[in-house]
Amino acid sequence: METKIEKITDITQDADKIQTAAEIIRAGGLVAFPTETVYGLGADALNAKASEKIYAAKGRPSDNPLIVHIAKFEDMAKIAKKLPPQAKLLNDAFWPGPLTMIVEKNDKVPYETTGGMDTVAIRMPNHPVALALIRESTGFIAAPSANTSGRPSPTLADHVAEDLDGKIPMILDGGPVGIGIESTIVDLTEDVPMILRPGYITPEMLSEVIGEVKMDPGIIASDSTKKPKAPGMKYKHYAPKADLVLVDGEEAKVIEKINTLTAEAVTKGKKVGIISTDETFSAYKEGHVISIGARSNEDVIAQHLYKILREFDDMDVDLIYSESFATPRIGQAIMNRLLKAAGHQVISV
Ligand code: TXA
Ligand code: MG
Repeated sequence: METKIEKITDITQDADKIQTAAEIIRAGGLVAFPTETVYGLGADALNAKASEKIYAAKGRPSDNPLIVHIAKFEDMAKIAKKLPPQAKLLNDAFWPGPLTMIVEKNDKVPYETTGGMDTVAIRMPNHPVALALIRESTGFIAAPSANTSGRPSPTLADHVAEDLDGKIPMILDGGPVGIGIESTIVDLTEDVPMILRPGYITPEMLSEVIGEVKMDPGIIASDSTKKPKAPGMKYKHYAPKADLVLVDGEEAKVIEKINTLTAEAVTKGKKVGIISTDETFSAYKEGHVISIGARSNEDVIAQHLYKILREFDDMDVDLIYSESFATPRIGQAIMNRLLKAAGHQVISV
């Protein structure tokens, strides 16, 4: 299949391209599109056959449910059995935006979309292209991140093409995404709302709006004995091809450790990648060093993470050493993704 890549600079000017994409979705086909978090691979969420195509294109396990994307809050009630009281409050505070809510589903949502679950994940993305595509197609677009299962999520249309070229009919290219890590997922079917995946919207931000929230014990980094509630969080996701190891501790010690480990690996003929910050970039003596940005700018760190992992894939490095980025606000989400990519290999110095 030929994959058409269409650049969208303005949804009014490029309305015809969005119409073509919407027709593909209505006919049960797949279209990749930008959101503010990462690129999504979309299909009509209420069409079981269409959802199945997503799993095939990504090579995704069929028990891993999809997020249904909507463009207006009223549509949430059309696919939920009932709306919990927090839904409206969270909509008013954060939608459109990087938050996904899990509620009980009704019969309109096929089990093919929810991976066999009786609940459905719903999100209203904050991106003009995503919203236009949802509006112009069926109103309900199931979309996981538009990467091959197990690879880092795509933050550029080029990343989508790398993974899915020849497998889907169309990619809408809206340029680089704004946030760079996937949405926060909050489960509203629990007595106390529970965060199943950390993201740009922090537990504190949620608490301000709906009161107490819990964190799924299964996603807390050091604890691999408990099973995460979001099926997707149990897979070694976001994985680069190389072996990734995090080095955590005081800056000078981290630099020294990474330099020692890199020298050892280089002697053995290994190709090493290093993820540094702007501040530490020039302190590394050997290896291919890429800076993730200034340590003080956590938004930029989030934006660059997946792109850097892909760059190291392209360079065919054998090993990646990374500094750790437990920054104050979205650091929890950044470290959650990095620890998963590293298969929890951390060296503390
Ligand atoms: O930012 C995002 O959320 C992006 C963009 C494209 O919107 N989408 C995304 O989708 O990250 P995906 O499929 O890569 O991740 C969805 C996560 C998975 O971990 C999945 O297991 C979980 O959401 N999930 C979906 N429905 C669920 C449900 N009913 N119960 C528990 N977890 C669910
Ligand atoms: Mg994903």
